[in-house]
Amino acid sequence: MRMVMVGIFLLLGLVVSPAVVLVHGQPGFISIDCGLAEGSGYKDDETTIDYSSDTDFIEAGVNKNISSSFISTSLQRQLLNLRSFPDGSRNCYTIKPVEMDSKYLIRASFMYGNYDGLNLFPQFDLYLGVNLWDSVNLTGTSGTMSTEIITISSRNFMSVCLVNTGLGTPFISTLELRLMDMSLYNLTTDDSDSLVLYKRLDVGSTTGQIVRYPNDTLDFIWSPYNLPSWTSIFTLSEVKDLYGQFSAPSMVMSTAVRPANESSDTLNFSWTTDNPSLQFHVVDHYAELEVLKENEVRDFMDCGTGVFCYGPFSPDYLVADAIYTKDTMTGQDHYSVSVIKANDSTLPPILNAIEIYALKRLPDTATNNRDVDAIMNIKATYRVKRNWMGDPCLPKNYTWEGLNCSYDSSYPPTIISLDLSSTRLSGEIAPSLGNLTSIQFLDLSRNNLTGAVPDFLVKLSFLTFLNLSSNKLNGSVPSALLERSQDGSLILSFGDNPNLCTSYSCNTTEPCLSGSCKKKHKKFVIPVIAALSVAAVLVIFTALIAWRKFREKRQGEPAANANKECSFLIQHNRRFTSTEIMRMTNNFQRVLGKGAFGTVYHGQMEDGTEVAIKMLSQIRHGSVEFQTEAQLLMRVYHKNLVSFIGYCAEGDNKALILEYMLEGNLAKHLSGKDKNARVLNWGQRLQIALDVAQGLEYLHFGCKPPIIHRDVKAANILLNERLEAKIADFGLSKAFLDEELTHISTAVKGTHGYLDPEYFNSSKLNEKSDVYSFGVVLFELITGQPAIIQSVGSERTTIVNWVAPMIEIGDIKNVVDPRLHGDYDISSGWKAIEIAIACTPPKSIGRPNMSDVVAELKECLGIGIAPERTTSVKSERPENTFGSMSYPSARW
Ligand SMILES: *[C@@H]1O[C@H](CO)[C@@H](O)[C@H](O)[C@H]1NC(C)=O
Ligand SMILES: *[C@@H]1O[C@H](CO)[C@@H](O)[C@H](O)[C@H]1NC(C)=O
Ligand SMILES: *[C@@H]1O[C@H](CO)[C@@H](O)[C@H](O)[C@H]1NC(C)=O
Ligand SMILES: *[C@@H]1O[C@H](CO)[C@@H](O)[C@H](O)[C@H]1NC(C)=O
Ligand SMILES: *[C@@H]1O[C@H](CO)[C@@H](O)[C@H](O)[C@H]1NC(C)=O
Repeated sequence: MRMVMVGIFLLLGLVVSPAVVLVHGQPGFISIDCGLAEGSGYKDDETTIDYSSDTDFIEAGVNKNISSSFISTSLQRQLLNLRSFPDGSRNCYTIKPVEMDSKYLIRASFMYGNYDGLNLFPQFDLYLGVNLWDSVNLTGTSGTMSTEIITISSRNFMSVCLVNTGLGTPFISTLELRLMDMSLYNLTTDDSDSLVLYKRLDVGSTTGQIVRYPNDTLDFIWSPYNLPSWTSIFTLSEVKDLYGQFSAPSMVMSTAVRPANESSDTLNFSWTTDNPSLQFHVVDHYAELEVLKENEVRDFMDCGTGVFCYGPFSPDYLVADAIYTKDTMTGQDHYSVSVIKANDSTLPPILNAIEIYALKRLPDTATNNRDVDAIMNIKATYRVKRNWMGDPCLPKNYTWEGLNCSYDSSYPPTIISLDLSSTRLSGEIAPSLGNLTSIQFLDLSRNNLTGAVPDFLVKLSFLTFLNLSSNKLNGSVPSALLERSQDGSLILSFGDNPNLCTSYSCNTTEPCLSGSCKKKHKKFVIPVIAALSVAAVLVIFTALIAWRKFREKRQGEPAANANKECSFLIQHNRRFTSTEIMRMTNNFQRVLGKGAFGTVYHGQMEDGTEVAIKMLSQIRHGSVEFQTEAQLLMRVYHKNLVSFIGYCAEGDNKALILEYMLEGNLAKHLSGKDKNARVLNWGQRLQIALDVAQGLEYLHFGCKPPIIHRDVKAANILLNERLEAKIADFGLSKAFLDEELTHISTAVKGTHGYLDPEYFNSSKLNEKSDVYSFGVVLFELITGQPAIIQSVGSERTTIVNWVAPMIEIGDIKNVVDPRLHGDYDISSGWKAIEIAIACTPPKSIGRPNMSDVVAELKECLGIGIAPERTTSVKSERPENTFGSMSYPSARW
């Protein structure tokens, strides 16, 4: 059997690294020599125990050596060096692996040895996990102390913490764990209680040496003990442990004492304490060491002060036995144990060994295991550079930096918030985050996280705040998160992830066209285009033809485009160089307009196609809007949205190449300032309204996630040569999922006069804000007035407020644009007004959605283009139109 075992160990030695072998040199032992140089270890000459350095178990502290004046040949090697903790009020060792739900003896040893030259013993506290284990109070000339606790591990690691109590720098010399059988030392009534060693004495020792490993296979340390009133007896035979309840080795049990005075029939042992609240458990070990003659009897009583008296008891020859009680001795400062000769005994009493333990309740339950495992994993995965030691949540005033916990007395604490922003995290979002199941707040912003936004985040059902901004994530955001963000249950941020498909429609099979496209462009397409400009021209050409063909086909299609994917034209977008832009605009000759974010120039492609080139102004810091618009335009295609042809992004030169809209913007047409602009007739106005409504309907319902334009206004509606209207300027657009939608956005954006009052007041945006702005545009189309009206001698007012009193009295003649000279159908006029009114109540809940508006406008247009009722202009509003109020609240 031995031979086989040796063989196996040799084999293991070949495959396992020496450091690991050292740590586990003795099965069930973890033996740490604190302050030993990193990676080193040794086999102790005396004990043959393998010790290793503590660097794998702690990240803080400094290695120190005791003063040479304390070094002697008899000094244990482990005490020569130590780890001291000048920084931080709590420093913790995380010792692993330990077996879960197993019993361990943990021993911490300290020897000051004037290592810091201060010649002043520090005092500090020692914690096991979240509970106070002992206060370290050093004694002797060199300042030593050792403390042991027998406890059951509740997880796969142990944390031992040194807490600075303001009385000097904590340090530690040795840390030892010994795995015990669960059946050993079951002294307490409650299994969850621990035992702190008070004394462990090898009574009657003949050598005067301590006994420990290998003589005690569990490496319990037995100190020799004798009293003048005692006489030693011993045997050379082995004392067997048949009961397996305690760990008293033969070497300890083979020596004993009896009273020195033959006439005395009692062995007394006593101790004092200055803490009467301590509860002591005593274990008296017995084994008969002498062969008793026929007529001899050794019988005795074992009595503890006022608590118990057990016996008469007669120990068996060379068999270890013990007397102990589950009751504790407490409430006094002086205790004694008496072993008293029984009446029928012919021989004096004996005592082989004695152990005294103080009961230690560890009342504070550590943080929820799953959370601890998760956060430990996270710490390891990201090598978090924070003072994260010991239990994450406890003690409360040592909660780990960057996280908060919930404390409910009936449950272990759980982690409810974690802020890891700006902590240089790299790699993917750690799966362990998904095990923080109670988490409500998670901030991972400003790191270097890569990879996808994982689905497991969706399962964190308590999550109300998630910030992934400013990373390098890619792919798309899980739709369930977007939905929660949309319904307001989650504040979700993921801006500034250049490769993340943040918004807009992405079809599910190819989740992030834009992300991957852009990436490819950056890494690959630029150099290729630069090098092969000839090929580039060909590419433009092909793309353009494809695009035009597509457009022609598209324009023949019926208006409603709802529920089409909008990630469509992507393959046709192209990237232009700034040289190409210069050539196309003929050195930026013709200005078409100036927008909020830069100037729009006229340009011409090589095939003669006219384009509008929107240059991003470098001064105006509009790059966010530029990016928003570019990203959105790449994904959307609809006949009522301005088409996107390509873009240029070369350093500071950024441009969007858009479909050229010959007739310019609607505001210009309605204002009458442009003398060349024709007055739009009623039918054209209704058609423009329908075009715009269809464009918005597509953004709201045809795109997934929906898009809110946020800046619907006459100036952003462009007309082509056929007076077809297209919505432009997506710089402020938001996909529903975007962060600002679900929480207070700091800046309400939009244009005064068109701005939804509810959004303005609450900062809560939804697609009904566009409906409001559309209503304003419709009023502009009807009245020919601008959104903000400054009439002579009166206050500025919005168009909505301006028309209200006139509508109230049914004065349609003064509502409708006088430039139409009454050339419109009255019922069509009223219908249009009703739609505009329905779109503009102050509360969004009362507004119709854009699909309803489209339907109503179509109806209206049917009426509007019906022939010749224009001559009989009635100025009263027809009863039936308002009476049948086309917008019952149920429908809207
Ligand atoms: C520490 O030990 C010294 C000497 O044994 C003793 O006087 C002192 O009261 C102890 N302090 C504490 C806090 O136990
Ligand atoms: C933590 O709290 C304990 C008891 O509430 C207190 O004794 C200790 O000084 C506190 N530590 C810190 C660092 O605040
Ligand atoms: C934790 O709670 C404190 C106090 O309530 C708060 O100031 C801090 O922001 C919270 N930290 C996190 C990460 O939520
Ligand atoms: C999450 O917890 C479960 C059980 O609590 C565990 O099996 C799993 O390995 C953990 N996952 C991660 C990634 O830590
Ligand atoms: C998310 O983090 C970014 C970067 O730190 C910050 O600018 C943004 O305000 C955060 N979002 C929220 C909702 O707090």
